[in-house]
Amino acid sequence: MTKITAAITAVGKYVPEYVLTNKELETMVDTNDEWITSRTGIKERRILKGKGLGTGYMAIKSAQDLLQKSSVNPKEIDLVIVATATPDLQVSSTAAYVATEIGATNAFGYDLQAACSSFLYGMSTAASYIESGRYKKVLLIGADKMSSILDYTDRTTCIIFGDGAGAALLEANTEGLGLQDEYLRSDGIGREFLKIEAGGSVLPASEETVKNGQHFVYQEGKTVFKYAVSNMSDVAAKMLTRNNLTEEDIQWLVAHQANKRIIEATAKRVGVSSEKVMMNIQHYGNTTSATLPLLLADYEKQLKKGDNLIFAAFGGGFTWGAAYVKWAYNS
Ligand code: UT7
Repeated sequence: MTKITAAITAVGKYVPEYVLTNKELETMVDTNDEWITSRTGIKERRILKGKGLGTGYMAIKSAQDLLQKSSVNPKEIDLVIVATATPDLQVSSTAAYVATEIGATNAFGYDLQAACSSFLYGMSTAASYIESGRYKKVLLIGADKMSSILDYTDRTTCIIFGDGAGAALLEANTEGLGLQDEYLRSDGIGREFLKIEAGGSVLPASEETVKNGQHFVYQEGKTVFKYAVSNMSDVAAKMLTRNNLTEEDIQWLVAHQANKRIIEATAKRVGVSSEKVMMNIQHYGNTTSATLPLLLADYEKQLKKGDNLIFAAFGGGFTWGAAYVKWAYNS
């Protein structure tokens, strides 16, 4: 029997129109363009404005972009996964809503939360369903409205994040393309360093939690930075050694866009030169679950069938990991 692998066969994206520049942030908090650019690589990020618009809105738009570009009939989609840290509503699945809105009426849907590693973990989940033969078409969307959980008076976090969504369709492949290998990790030690304190079951929302600003993202940047650099580099390098790949075999590094310096450190460790490193952090900042699919969408035209891609991500929890993917199509 031919081995079934899971390959990405289409991608789509959506970023909101509103551009929040470093210059504008200078008017909001005590910061400056030079600091943000040199420490993070970010020049601007997109912000979703409009009452009642949440992550689901962007997820739907990215899925519609994918559907419009590809020939896939939404009714053939078996499963919709929305990877997100900012679901539309507590309890109600954002993915179920997205599936219905895009006409994927034969699909079931659920959300997957692993902070900035959500999309990477989602690739693993989607691929497992497909490799087992259980489902044939899985739509994986990474989407986050980070502006909904940021304190725009806190200069240590509000300058980093942005809003956006990216979608990828995964399908069965019999040419050996798609996901080849992965190494996913987590360590609960990270819980204290990157979190939203209140609003969960440990500390439910109250007048006091709102007053204390405990519904906003809290990050101990320096600590997270250190863990991110060493762990993301380690797992990315492991993908090469474990698969007998040298840096010449790699066409692209697809790394979570949290900080340009973290991405560059990972690239250095893997040994790939800068022209092989996908980078769009300057335009979007850190969009959490959306960074990896946004990279794929932005670089889609440059990707060739058979290209070797190394994915790497690191996020809250801590969660992190890497994957080795053979690109499956020319666009
Ligand atoms: O995606 C999920 C995982 N997240 C990450 O991977 C993020 C990891 N962390 C980072 O990317 C970086 O730690 C940050 C970008 C968040 C911060 O950069 P840093 O180089 O680690 O700066 P720092 O926190 O060590 O702060 C250095 C200085 C401090 O001043 P003092 O104490 O040296 O006087 C900060 O108060 O920079 C100050 N600072 C700022 N200055 C201007 C912090 N934020 C700002 C700001 N503008 N926005």
